[in-house]
Amino acid sequence: MPIINSVAAMQDEVTAWRRDIHENPEILYDVHRTAGVVADKLRAFGCDEVVPGIGQTGVVGVIRGRKAASGKVIGMRADMDALPMTENTGLPYASKTPGRMHACGHDGHTAMLLGAAKYLCQTRNFDGTAVVIFQPAEEGGAGGKAMVDDGLMERWSIQEVYGMHNMPGIPAGQFAIRPGPLLAASDAIFIDITGKGGHAARPHECIDPVLVGSHIVTALHSIVSRNIDPLKSGVISICMFHAGEALNVIPATAQLQGTARTLAPEVRDLIERRVVEVAETTARLYGATAKATYERRYPVTKNHATQTAFAASVAGQVAGVDKVDTNTPPLMGGEDFSFMLEARPGAFIFLGNGSTAGVHHPKYDFNDAAIPAGISYWARLVETAMPA
Ligand code: NI
Repeated sequence: MPIINSVAAMQDEVTAWRRDIHENPEILYDVHRTAGVVADKLRAFGCDEVVPGIGQTGVVGVIRGRKAASGKVIGMRADMDALPMTENTGLPYASKTPGRMHACGHDGHTAMLLGAAKYLCQTRNFDGTAVVIFQPAEEGGAGGKAMVDDGLMERWSIQEVYGMHNMPGIPAGQFAIRPGPLLAASDAIFIDITGKGGHAARPHECIDPVLVGSHIVTALHSIVSRNIDPLKSGVISICMFHAGEALNVIPATAQLQGTARTLAPEVRDLIERRVVEVAETTARLYGATAKATYERRYPVTKNHATQTAFAASVAGQVAGVDKVDTNTPPLMGGEDFSFMLEARPGAFIFLGNGSTAGVHHPKYDFNDAAIPAGISYWARLVETAMPA
């Protein structure tokens, strides 16, 4: 049983929704237009309940099946936000807002879940309740956490929760998943170095924070290579190094910022401890001081075994079992669906986006050819988990 026929017939309509959202990207919690479009469509489809304003600008739609004997409630989540970057695709429906771009395909995620909501409202061929969840601020704003903190799971008695993300490099319409850690914990590192400024020609009277920062960056790279078990995974990337204003003035301060990614709690604990130790003691070695702050942001996206096997079987119904990779390697990217998976059992699955540019690239675009597979996955997930 591959793509559902009536879903295939929705392709042009859902593609138009997707491109409209793509043209009008909004970031973080400021997704008012997108959330408005989502809520209007859910009402027009005939959802039994449409509630905006969950987790600031999140939207929840409730669709009751033809029967309600099972008492089951399944949540399905899409993210609505774009990225603060400038699009360079040259597409006719490219972003109309410079510095804003749907470069992670959340436009496609939102359109596909809307398509599934429309199908489920029309057919209602299930015994239980489907809850469609549209969240803001996936890209760094923890919108998923905001919705969970706002009582999402309790208010609608959600028992299991599922998420989906497109994945360039996997053929369009195919799926990939794994039980256990799928995406990394994503944390932030801030290091403020204080030295002593002065004339570039009189370094002996200064404490050069640029040199200190350089040693800190180098020393931090020893954590992954020398402190972490080589069979475990960790990433430390210092991506910002700000200091100085003139080529002949030694500045007084320097700032470093970066990110750490881990898949295991003990590795996360170790990196947190070592980043602070290494940064602060390295600065002291050169007579400077450093204040290092390690902020835990998104937890590991950890798929639950039972729900992952179920999600894989549903994906197999849609794409064919040979088109579902059930042991895809974890990725060191982060994802705030992790907060929902901490609140309820569930699974996050990748949907192939074909050979497009990677996510967060200025030439990336969501692949509309994957839409029927994505909608069919959501529809079959509901119909299979809660058969009428
Ligand atoms: Ni994303």
